[in-house]
Amino acid sequence: MSPRRAPLIGIIGGYGAVGRSAARSLAAQGRFRLRLGGRDGEAARACAARLAAPAEAMAVDAGDARSLGRFSQGCRTVLNCAGPAYLLADRARRAAFAAGADYVDVMDDGRPADPVPGRTAVLSAGLMPGLSGLLPGLLSQGLDPGGEFTGCYAGLGTLTRTGALDYLLSAERGYGTPMAVWRGRVVPSALAVELHFPVPGVPRPLTAHPFLTEELVDRARELGLGEARWYNAFDGDAVLGTLKRSRGGHPGARDLAARAEELVRSSALDAAGRTPYHVLWGRLEGSDQEGNAVSRAIVIRGEDGSRLTGAVGAFAAAAVCGGQVLRGVHRASAVLSPQAVVDWLRTGVPGVTVRQTTVSSPTDAEHRPGPGDGTEAGGVDEGTL
Ligand SMILES: NC(=O)c1ccc[n+]([C@@H]2O[C@H](COP(=O)([O-])OP(=O)(O)OC[C@H]3O[C@@H](n4cnc5c(N)ncnc54)[C@H](OP(=O)(O)O)[C@@H]3O)[C@@H](O)[C@H]2O)c1
Repeated sequence: MSPRRAPLIGIIGGYGAVGRSAARSLAAQGRFRLRLGGRDGEAARACAARLAAPAEAMAVDAGDARSLGRFSQGCRTVLNCAGPAYLLADRARRAAFAAGADYVDVMDDGRPADPVPGRTAVLSAGLMPGLSGLLPGLLSQGLDPGGEFTGCYAGLGTLTRTGALDYLLSAERGYGTPMAVWRGRVVPSALAVELHFPVPGVPRPLTAHPFLTEELVDRARELGLGEARWYNAFDGDAVLGTLKRSRGGHPGARDLAARAEELVRSSALDAAGRTPYHVLWGRLEGSDQEGNAVSRAIVIRGEDGSRLTGAVGAFAAAAVCGGQVLRGVHRASAVLSPQAVVDWLRTGVPGVTVRQTTVSSPTDAEHRPGPGDGTEAGGVDEGTL
């Protein structure tokens, strides 16, 4: 395709940590034109100039409908990587639709809204939410319904201020239920904090907090899982301490900003002198049509959470641009091909490793998820990345 006829993808927040990564992933495809935006037109220009694909820059304010409208004009798809997502809400999606563009967001901008005829939106197309919600579908493929899924995210690395704000906001806005498990319905207070939780790919046991997200509840329902549980695991005391102190407050904007700064500092403290990592692990215990007990697991490990998030967002934008996603407003976990996303990350993001295992046996081998010895009552407010 001639460069002038290649579909245009507009990336809002295109020079932020996640947006830069998305832009690099899409530029590497060589089949799109890109438009990078943010409130700083000069920063967008500098970032666009470094890409290995035709890219223009345009200043845009995601809080302003007219500015978003100008940015979205001519785009086949708008990919929103600006945040805090919970403060910017769904303005970018509305503007994209009004300009005749499809839409992808690396975060949730609220519950999927009513569809707009002829338009497509893919929400929550990041690491968590995003890749996290793809694991149950990947692991349960071809198995009977009723399987039991356990998943976990563990990460070490300095959060961006925007990421920290969204983390706190998502917890406050009830994105998930601490300590809950899915057993055909959300069962509250069913699980406990695990103090010595072994996470494959992480050299020492971590403290893991059960956190049943809306994303996982939706997937469990759609896939007919018998049970689903999710843990957020913490590698260090600083972030955990900040989240515990932060629990239960109903702060104003200033307080929120201060707590986000503290969260950024504590994430840097936990990571100091250590190699950053981001691990998603999932395991599904189920059975196949022949009556065999099947245990499947996956471990996806990368060095940079923003890089992984941007790459998933880029995959979604490319899929939407290519007409591979049905019209309507969806969560990424419901419409992207899990294996294709995993392959995209493995082949396209430096340093990403993926380990997938399957064990099949004629009898029901008893093998529960690997919590450690101790448990702790209570928990911390947790959110999305
Ligand atoms: N799903 C996941 O797993 C996951 C993981 C990590 C991050 N995220 C989300 O990804 C988003 C970006 O995070 P990040 O770490 O990349 O943050 P970041 O490095 O601070 O980048 C944010 C970008 O958005 C732009 N921006 C902020 N407010 C804007 C506005 N009103 N109008 C236009 N552009 C605006 C910023 O530029 P200016 O300030 O110059 O305008 C910057 O380019 C956040 O919502 C974060 O929660 C999701």
